Amino acid sequence: MNSQQVKDLDKKYIGVFKRYDVVFERGHGSTLIDKEGNKYVDFFSGISVNNLGYANRAINAAIIKQLGNYTHLSNCFYSEPQVKLAQALCENSFGARVYFANTGAEANEGAMKFAKKWAMLHKERAYKIITFYNSFHGRTLAALTATGQEKFHKILNPMYPGISYAKFNDLKDVESKITTDTCAIMVEPIQAEGGIYTPAPGFLKGLRELCDRNNILLIFDEVQSGMGRTGKLFAYQKYGVKPDVMTIAKSIGGGLPLAAYIVAEEHADVYAFGDHGTTMGGNPAACAAGLVLFNTVKKPVFLKSVERKGACIMKRLKKIKNPDIEEIRGAGLLIGVQMKKGAQDIVDKALAAGLVINVTGHEVLRIEPPLNISGADIDKGLRILEKLL
Ligand SMILES: Cc1ncc(COP(=O)(O)O)c(C=O)c1O
Repeated sequence: MNSQQVKDLDKKYIGVFKRYDVVFERGHGSTLIDKEGNKYVDFFSGISVNNLGYANRAINAAIIKQLGNYTHLSNCFYSEPQVKLAQALCENSFGARVYFANTGAEANEGAMKFAKKWAMLHKERAYKIITFYNSFHGRTLAALTATGQEKFHKILNPMYPGISYAKFNDLKDVESKITTDTCAIMVEPIQAEGGIYTPAPGFLKGLRELCDRNNILLIFDEVQSGMGRTGKLFAYQKYGVKPDVMTIAKSIGGGLPLAAYIVAEEHADVYAFGDHGTTMGGNPAACAAGLVLFNTVKKPVFLKSVERKGACIMKRLKKIKNPDIEEIRGAGLLIGVQMKKGAQDIVDKALAAGLVINVTGHEVLRIEPPLNISGADIDKGLRILEKLL
């Protein structure tokens, strides 16, 4: 098919996405190539899914090997790729137990349901969950209600019950929302979709203290900030605050659909047989791919390189003199350039010039390249961006 044929046929897809005006055919490393053979530097990585770039040989080899054994196996059976990944996740985090799902929204739904079961055992009649304004937790009904952005709530009628919102980075406001019915606080350590807002010093620690004092579970949504994105394996390690439950997704399947929530040892027995389940969650090929990705990303030398690349990009961006730039913020390779006005035109011009970039929250240019991007590709992408800004 040529590009136009693909675009024409796309009318068969329910139009909930505004597509970029390009049809990509393939990719390698941090490069995407369109149907016409034009090359693009990728500062997008499928919104933090392709953390080791495109066509990664080790990931592909693990997937192909697993496909030769079995593509799917019911969760009624033991699965070697699954247990290996669960072990790796527990050994490298605060966690003691892992549950596998398919998407970030599903992991967050699972974590919220887990909190309700925990409350049944430890905090009778508590069922309410506090989340944050400007957060993003996914598109399913409870996850979207948990998402503290009104623009997503218009078609949610009625909303999922028991969820209220507090101001991010405002402990007093959080405290004012806590009642005896509160069973959990769910927060992104870095608000990503909302515009790359990092936590103020002491905010996450303060949340931990509030939760401990009031017998409340602390859930970190690390769907976007996890898996090395910030220069730490998980963002909670950057801020030195352990949650009770953490959700991860996006790159954990090495590009295949996979998500998980991880729970601390003291909550290991909250769920009993039959409390939760899934047909597809924890797909063996996705777990095999995820293990390769995880074993690469977890290496201290790799994480250091993410930190270094992030610092280098940040430094170059801060040198750009443009009165429309309000702020540049982020951590590791999760960087936002806050513009004073809508930034979609910069995204479109960047694409035409060979750089794939994204805008979030309408005015924030998001820079989220594959974590293994080369210095040369960073330079290529930044030159385009510097020119446009
Ligand atoms: C922090 C966060 N949580 C949850 C989600 C939802 O993940 P998914 O699209 O896989 O359902 C996203 C997606 O961008 C996210 O950034």
